[in-house]
Amino acid sequence: MADEQYWAVIPAAGSGERMGSDLPKQYYPLCGKPLIEHTLDRFCTHPRIKGVVVAIAEHDRYWRELKLSYANEVLFVTGGAKRCHSVLNGLKRAEQIGRAQDWVLVHDAARPCVRKEDIDRLLSVLADDPVGGLLALPVRDTMKRSQSDNTVCETVEREGLWHALTPQMFRLEPLRRAIEAALAEGRLVTDEAQAMEFAGAAPRLVEGHPDNIKITSRADLALAELYLRQQAQEGCG
Ligand code: CTP
Ligand code: MG
Repeated sequence: MADEQYWAVIPAAGSGERMGSDLPKQYYPLCGKPLIEHTLDRFCTHPRIKGVVVAIAEHDRYWRELKLSYANEVLFVTGGAKRCHSVLNGLKRAEQIGRAQDWVLVHDAARPCVRKEDIDRLLSVLADDPVGGLLALPVRDTMKRSQSDNTVCETVEREGLWHALTPQMFRLEPLRRAIEAALAEGRLVTDEAQAMEFAGAAPRLVEGHPDNIKITSRADLALAELYLRQQAQEGCG
């Protein structure tokens, strides 16, 4: 469709428990500015993304300190108890300004290194897809399943296994409905694709770049800085 519209929803309402600090990880300094600003840069300057909705925790004291001035519209909503609730709030807000069948890219605030070329690949690969899909990485290591005492109970066949990354791109209303239906059944989906899967759809996996890491622990910060510097040198990102 020539007049396709794209929106982004950025869940940023987590507390970053695994970082073990009071400062939520999305506000950690990274290459001289808060982590979330790197993430927002990628979406708020993207020529095909019309607007960005950010989900912020209810008592977030840091969001208003950010100095944001972007060409694309940035709106915020209050997040919820789990990532899926935050995303749902963001989708509802996006539906107020967008159209039911517009595409929406849901992207973790905690993934500041996503490349523009990866976003562009997602847009182009999924352009004619009836469902949508997600950036993903094929699993490289041999996979083991453990029992409770951390001894191996089986080796899991790696063939066909992928890491699910973000952005995940679906159409606004179908995604909002799929998440609502999952929640109504008590399923706290951990990504958008899982909600679509529960709705009977088969999201498409689009191979992304391995530097699109999710900041989870402190060790990831140094790696993210390395990737961001590398991207700046390569003139991408
Ligand atoms: N997120 C959110 N609302 C929640 C929980 C998470 O918007 N209730 C967001 C986070 O801010 C993050 C993304 O979802 O950008 C991915 O979640 P995760 O990496 O798990 O972040 P946290 O939940 O903040 O970290 P932790 O699980 O260690 O507490
Ligand atoms: Mg979490």
